[in-house]
Amino acid sequence: MQAMVAVILAAGKGTRMKSNLPKVLHEVGGKPMLRHVTAAAQAAGARRMVVVVGFGGEQVATVMGGDGLEYVTQAQQLGTGHAVMQAKQVLQGYQGTILLLCGDTPLLRPATLQSLRRAHQASGAAATVLTAKLADPSGYGRILRTDAGNVCGIVEQKDATPEQIRISEINTGIYCFEAGPLFAALDGLTCNNAQQEYYLTDVLAILAQSGQTVGAVKVDDFEETLGINSRVQLAEAEAILRRRKLVELMESGVTVMDPASTFIDSDVVIGRDTVLYPFTWIEGHTVVGEDCRIGPNTRIADSVIGNGVTLHFVYGHECSVDDGATVGPYVHLRPAAKLATGAKVGNFVEIKNSQVGRGSKVPHLSYIGDTDMGAGVNIGCGAITVNYDGQKKHRTTIGDDAFIGCNTNLVAPVTVGDGAYTAAGSTITKDVPSRALGVGRARQTNIAGWVDKK
Ligand code: UD1
Ligand code: CA
Repeated sequence: MQAMVAVILAAGKGTRMKSNLPKVLHEVGGKPMLRHVTAAAQAAGARRMVVVVGFGGEQVATVMGGDGLEYVTQAQQLGTGHAVMQAKQVLQGYQGTILLLCGDTPLLRPATLQSLRRAHQASGAAATVLTAKLADPSGYGRILRTDAGNVCGIVEQKDATPEQIRISEINTGIYCFEAGPLFAALDGLTCNNAQQEYYLTDVLAILAQSGQTVGAVKVDDFEETLGINSRVQLAEAEAILRRRKLVELMESGVTVMDPASTFIDSDVVIGRDTVLYPFTWIEGHTVVGEDCRIGPNTRIADSVIGNGVTLHFVYGHECSVDDGATVGPYVHLRPAAKLATGAKVGNFVEIKNSQVGRGSKVPHLSYIGDTDMGAGVNIGCGAITVNYDGQKKHRTTIGDDAFIGCNTNLVAPVTVGDGAYTAAGSTITKDVPSRALGVGRARQTNIAGWVDKK
C-alpha cells in the first residue's frame, strides 16, 4: 500500500461546548475525543499525523503528547481550507495520500477509514470524499455530481441554490487526497462565499475542473462520522461508545449482567468468562483476567486484575490484584496496593502502597499503609499500621505466617518477624523477633468487690 499521513483539523474553539477546555480534549469513552481520532487514523495505517491546532493549542499538545503526532498552528480560523494550508510546510516534499479528518469525530471506526483509503488508492483519484445520504441533510455541504454521476464539487448549505439544497448526499468532512494536487489546489482557493472563508470543499471543484478524478465513497454507518459540538452530543457519543464496548466484550466471552449500569472505557481489556455485575465501572488502562467476578458496585481504574479474582463493592485505582484473590465488600485499594495470589481483603479495609503476600488475609476493618507483608499472614480485626508521624511516612514489615492480634497498632518503622504473634490490643513500637509474641499493653488487674464498695 502507498504511504498515508493524516491531517486532523482541531483548531475550532468549540463555542457551543461552553468550556475553557479545547473541544477535542473533552473526554468520551475514557479518553479525549481527539485520541479516538488519532487511534482510528493510526489503525487505518497513518504513520504520521499532523494536528492543526488553534484555541488552546499548547494544551492539546501537552495532553496528546508527541507520539507520532506533529502540531501546526492556525492562528486565525479562516476556514477548513485555510486550516489544511497550515500543514503544507511540515509536509513539504511528501508525495502520497493525506487522510483528512476532524478532531471532533470520536465514533469513527478504523475499518471505515481503511475502506476509504483502499477505494481512493485503487482508483488513482486525486481526491475521494466520504459521503452519506440523509433524509435530513440540513447543515451539511451537498455533493454535486455531473449527469454522468461523477463528483464535480461540494456546495455549502449557505451557498446552495434552492435546487442544490434538495440534494440528499452530503459531505461527512472526511477525505483522502493526494498531497501534490491538494496543495496545488489550495493555492487556488478564494473566500468569495457566504461565510467569507477558505473552504476545503472548493478543492474538489478545482480538481475536477482541471480534469483530475474525484471519487466518493458512501459510509455504511453515518453515525460514525458525527462531530461533537455540544455537551448533549458528547453524552450521546458516550452512550454509543459504551454500548459498542459492551457488545465487543460480550462477543468476546464476557458476561455483562446489566449493560445499562456497566461503564467500561474503550481501552480496557477483560478476559473470557469474567462476569460483570451491575453498577460496575472499569476505567483507563485496566486489564482484567479470565473468570473474574467484578461488582456489583465496583469501580476500578488503571489497575491490573488477574484471573479468578472476586471484587465485590470495591474501589481500586493504580493497584494490582493477583489470581484468585478475593476483595470486598467495602474495600479501598489505593495506588501501589499489590495483592498476591489468593489474598483475601475485606470488609471495610483500606490498603495503600503495600504488598499483601500470597494467601495473606486482612479480613476486617484494617488500614494497611506502606507495608511489606509476607505470605500466609493473618491480620486480626481492626489491626492497623501507624505509618505517619505527622511529617514522614514509615514502612512496616510483616514476615511470613505472622499473626497480628485484633486491634494491634503497628507503629512504623517496625518489623514483625516470620511466624511471630502480637497480642490483641497491643501497640507495637519495637520489632518483634521471629516466632516471638509481642505484647504491648497494660496488664489487666481486677479489683475484687469494687462494685459493692462504690
Ligand atoms: C464542514 C464542511 C461541510 C461538511 C461538514 C461535515 C467545509 C467548508 N465544509 O462544514 O461540507 O458537510 O464539515 O461536518 O469544509 N476547522 C479548523 N479551522 C478552521 C475551520 C474549521 O480547524 O478555520 C475545523 C473545526 O475545528 C472542525 C472542522 O474543521 O473540527 C470542521 O469545521 P466546521 O466549521 O465545523 O465545518 P462545517 O461548517 O461543519
Ligand atoms: Ca461541523
